[in-house]
This record gives sequence, structure tokens and C-alpha cells, in this order.
Amino acid sequence: MKKLEIIGGKKISGTISISGSKNATLPILASTILTNKKIIIENVPLVKDVETMAELLSNMGSNLKFDKKKKKITIINEKKLKTFAPYHSLKTMRAGILVLGPLLAKFKVAKVSLPGGCAIGSRPVDIHLDALKKMGAKIKIKDGYIHASVQKNLKGCTIKFPKISVGATENILIAACFAQGITKLRNCALEPEIGDLINFLKKLGCNIHRTGKRSINVTGVEKLNSAVHKVIFDRIEAGTYIIAAALTKGRLKIKNIIPKIILTEINFLVKMGVKIIKKKNYIIVNRLKNLKKIDISTKPYPGFPTDLQAQIMVLMTMAKGVSTIKENIFENRFMHVSELRRMGAKIKINNNKATIFGMSKLNGAELMATDLRASVCLVLAGLVPSNKTILNRIYHLDRGYEKIEKKLSRCGAHIKRLN
Ligand code: EPZ
Repeated sequence: MKKLEIIGGKKISGTISISGSKNATLPILASTILTNKKIIIENVPLVKDVETMAELLSNMGSNLKFDKKKKKITIINEKKLKTFAPYHSLKTMRAGILVLGPLLAKFKVAKVSLPGGCAIGSRPVDIHLDALKKMGAKIKIKDGYIHASVQKNLKGCTIKFPKISVGATENILIAACFAQGITKLRNCALEPEIGDLINFLKKLGCNIHRTGKRSINVTGVEKLNSAVHKVIFDRIEAGTYIIAAALTKGRLKIKNIIPKIILTEINFLVKMGVKIIKKKNYIIVNRLKNLKKIDISTKPYPGFPTDLQAQIMVLMTMAKGVSTIKENIFENRFMHVSELRRMGAKIKINNNKATIFGMSKLNGAELMATDLRASVCLVLAGLVPSNKTILNRIYHLDRGYEKIEKKLSRCGAHIKRLN
């Protein structure tokens, strides 16, 4: 089992280049099921979840080439794809559920494993399935699989999501591109990754219009073009490295980003006392003074992202005073707290609220990663104490962070991978 060894106490200073977004790449890859024209996707992050999605599509018969040197995926779906997504693909990469909408829209039938829950919550897909049923799909759950079919075509209709869901918005948006007539999506998620998916689908020739703050209208089309698309930057990776610099009082340039997309995160960190200079496609992070406490409530975009909650909690352990975090998106997203406590953090949990007592001294320890963002939070915590931290089960980390130990060690961290 691979582990990471970190010896902290060093400033994270220098330059880090942000990779493409995992959470934009996954729905974009799933949507390529719709077309049999040549697709080129650039700026693809080299992370496990993207490899898993690429394998899933290849196993379905997609002619997919992943050029890791150039971070580019080329896809041509010359022949009819298999409409089956097995459990082993979805058990670690839940976003595999995103092939359901395009398979149904294109091939009128699909057998897709229920993704199942994960460390952070039960992760149901009822909103995806209810919307597809409303569009005319017949859906049966049997032996842990979703058996879906539709007579002729999915039918356009008005779908008001009962809860803001990133995945459901993406799945139904893609399915609606081939549905008959107009599909009016309401109460949609607004995450920038959905904007990137829409840009890609429009390049394919899909007819999509934002008609209001959380409203999107899609008019079904029959034929699609080929396209070349560069994936948007990973805003969660960018936020993670801003916090790494703030934690270690480093001076860090973070490039290949669009600062206005992460304004919420930047504003919260500036409120804590982190100095951030914003330029067109990079920022400079500097931390000169003591950190101030802050209260955060995670929300759908453009609110503070749940995917950065664990990371900012580490920063709060160093602030003056008592900070709080309310986790409103997932029911069990404090798995990192018990490990932070083992390092000496003083944190109280009451249902979905964490109270973090600042100025606690963190000590290196042997730790266990549980999910993707909890893992990176523990890497950040390990950067603080000057003694050793060992992080186990780092396969969680590799799902969503490209070459993290390379990026950090180039900026002064003592971090290495142990087999
Ligand atoms: C996406 O997950 C992201 N994953 C998550 O990032 C992110 O945390 C999440 O959106 C919220 O921003 C990808 O994009 C691949 P949701 P998703 O549907 O789509 C409930 C990471 O670390 N819900 O917006 O699964 C759900 O349980 C990952 O990169 C239903 O009840 O999230 C949750 O409480 C973790 N029924 C809430 O909605 C449904 O059918 C929001 O989930 C679907 C969701």
C-alpha cells in the first residue's frame, strides 16, 4: 500500500501550475458517447478518476487514445458502443453514472451499475433517475444495476430539480441534447465545470441556452460535429495550493487559472488575513500576519465549495480564535477530523457543524486517508509540523490530484512517496 512521508516546517514558495479540472473532464468524457465524430480533449489532468472513465469508455467500444505526455484524449466512436457500465468501474469513480444519460439518449437502452455510497455520504442518484423517467425512460433497479430504456426518443419537458445537484444537472443536460423537442432545466447547479461542459457540447453542435440564473433550455438535435476542447482549470486544486502557501507562510505564484472563478474562496482567505494578488491568469499568495478566525457554510456554487472544506479547516486550526464550518452538502464529510485531532487539533463536531479552536499546535503522526479531499487536508496538515507525518491509503489522493508530491517538493516541501 503506497504512502506519503512528509516532514513539514518548510515554506511552500515558488510557482505551481494548475492542471485541468477532474470534475469538468469526467462529464465531458461521458458526453462523447453522443457523437461518432473525432473529438480531441486537451489539458486533461493525469488523475486516476480520468483513467477510470477512459477505461470505461474504451471497454464500451470507444476508440479512445490517452496521450499522457500531451495530456490529450482523442476519441472516435466508429462503431455502436456497448451500453453497459459495470460495478468495478463505478465503485471508486461515482461519476460513471454520467454515462447513463448519453447512453439512453443515443442508444435508447443502458445498464449502469448503481454507484453506491462512499466515505462522504450515501450519494443517491434518485434525482438523475426521476428526471430521466419524466423524459420517458423506463427504469428498473435490479441486482445493483440501473436497467433503463426508452421506446423511441427521450422527450423534452420541463424538469425542476428538487435539490441542486451537479451530477444530475450534467446527466440530464447531456441526455437532453438528443431528446425530442425542448427540455427546460430549472434549479440547475452553476458550477464552472458545468459551464465548461456546456461550452464543449455547443462546440459539438448542441443547442443549449442559459435562460436565467439556474435555468437552461436545451433543444434536441440529431447530428453532431467533431470538436477540440481545452478543459478548464481545476479550481479545487488551485484553492488547495493557496491554503498550502498560507499554512506555511510561503510566497506562491499559482498559474494557469481564472481568478474570477475562485473569487468566493479568495475572499474568505483574504478575510482570514491571507494576502492574495490577482492577475489575469495567475495569483500571488503571501501570508504576512496572523490568521483571523472565520465562519464558513458550504453551499452550491458560487458559495464556498464543500470540496475545499477539509482544506480550510487545517488553516482554521492556526487562526486566532474559534472558527466554525457548517457542511450543508454531504452528510458525512468530517472524516478528516479524527485524524487532525490525532495531530493535536482541537475540533468539536455537532451534527453538520464543526467548531475549530485556533492556535493549536499540530504534530506529525501516522494518518489514514479516507476520501479524496480528506486525504489532501492531511497532506496540508503534514506541511506544518517539523516532525514526520506518514499518510496511508494515498490511492484516495491519486484519484484527484496530479503529481501532488512533485508540485509541492518543487516549492520546498519535504514530501516523498514510499512503496
Ligand atoms: C459533484 O458530485 C462533484 N463530483 C463532487 O466532488 C462535489 O463535492 C459535488 O458535486 C458537490 O459540489 C464530480 O463532479 C465528479 P451533487 P455529485 O449531485 O454530482 C444529493 C470531489 O471531491 N443528491 O451535487 O455527486 C447528494 O447526496 C467530489 O471531487 C441526491 O440526494 O454531487 C448531495 O448531498 C466529491 N440525489 C447533494 O445532493 C441525487 O440524485 C449534492 O450532490 C444526486 C445528489
